[in-house]
Amino acid sequence: MENFQYYTPTKVVFGRGTEEQTGQLVREQGCRKVLVHYGSGSVVRSGLLERVYHSLDDAGIPYVSLGGVVPNPRLSLVYEGIELCKKENVDFILAVGGGSVIDSAKAIGYGLANDGDVWDFYDGKRTAQGCLPIGVILTIAAAGSEMSDSSVITNENGWLKRGYSSNYGRARFAVMNPELTMTLPKYQTASGCVDIMMHTMERYFNHCSNMEMTDGISEHLIRTVMKNAKILMTEPDNYDARAEVMWAGSLSHNGLTGCGTDGGDWASHQLEHELGGMFDVAHGAGLAAVWGSWARYVMDAAPQRFAKFAVNVMGVEPETDDSATALKGIRAMEDFYREIDMPVCIRDLGIEPSEDQLQELAEKCSHFGGRTIGCIKKLDKEDMYQIYKNAR
Ligand code: NZQ
Ligand code: ZN
Repeated sequence: MENFQYYTPTKVVFGRGTEEQTGQLVREQGCRKVLVHYGSGSVVRSGLLERVYHSLDDAGIPYVSLGGVVPNPRLSLVYEGIELCKKENVDFILAVGGGSVIDSAKAIGYGLANDGDVWDFYDGKRTAQGCLPIGVILTIAAAGSEMSDSSVITNENGWLKRGYSSNYGRARFAVMNPELTMTLPKYQTASGCVDIMMHTMERYFNHCSNMEMTDGISEHLIRTVMKNAKILMTEPDNYDARAEVMWAGSLSHNGLTGCGTDGGDWASHQLEHELGGMFDVAHGAGLAAVWGSWARYVMDAAPQRFAKFAVNVMGVEPETDDSATALKGIRAMEDFYREIDMPVCIRDLGIEPSEDQLQELAEKCSHFGGRTIGCIKKLDKEDMYQIYKNAR
């Protein structure tokens, strides 16, 4: 097991009706004025936003609002939020929504706590020295941003999707009521489940040995999400299934399943981020579309690991050699994606990238030839191009 630090400062308030505690939770933070940040309308239609306003009113907390966050959240709205918060003297941001809203809130927080252009952090030019405190009311189990140190923003100038990670961006509290996720379209529920599984799979695929505890947690987490994702395809109002998936979403990306690993692979995420930036696809669906291609491309670099995954997670019968078992596991995962109506290739996403666009994806993903990605097998620009091409 590798040395590690495990830091999860977010207070989790989980269960039915917990959003009623919002005003109290914000008051505990001792702030003067709150920005309520939300997306493109689901929280208005569900009545959640109104309930949050009431809770803040009851606690005597002044607030301003900024809606309009879209999936693959845009930098332009982040700039708008920063200006609004400066004008209104906001000192706390409450994100009501999913990963996109939370990430946009974190970016606004970085922009307020640091001088200069906030994009510099996402562009890898500087590191943040602070972030305005953030609270979360989660409405979709997926990105895990409610407990993660990450934020992913899309810059419309070049359609670059970039992530930035810092412990300053960890939410102070996360309200998680599984009932709030029952209004999700089936596609978003499934896409979220894929993302949750992938946050653990990215960490699982590493070259470490002696990972008994972390492997056990990871394997069980992925199996639990698969089981409950299937239930939710026919029973969207099943509270227990919603609850299992929601809790898995946070545990999958708060660092737990990476304890003792060498950090994990993350190539699938990097490959997907460019797809999301260029074609605006749902993040989890984009991951499902590239994963099989990535797995086939790299499995020979760690056949034992892929075979262990195949047997312990996908439940396949082992073959006499690891590569054959690994391949069965990859196919079984693709079957699962199909079962929950997720894509297994880029065409399934409804897009057909041209040859030039495949090259552009690889250019952007390699930061124009300036970096490699992945740890199971280091991938350069040509490898990335091949994986995109095989995934097409
Ligand atoms: O905008 P609204 O109207 O709220 O609609 C959203 C959106 O269209 C809808 N939705 C959310 N909750 C709902 C609902 N619709 C009905 N009922 C509800 N209860 O779902 C759609 C997707 O929302 P979004 O916030 O985009 O989903 P998700 O949580 O999957 O976030 C995706 C973003 O997070 C990034 C992704 O790259 C993507 O940009 N990620 C962030 C990470 C992090 N910060 O740690 C890690 C992830 O790997 C990921 O990269
Ligand atoms: Zn993800």
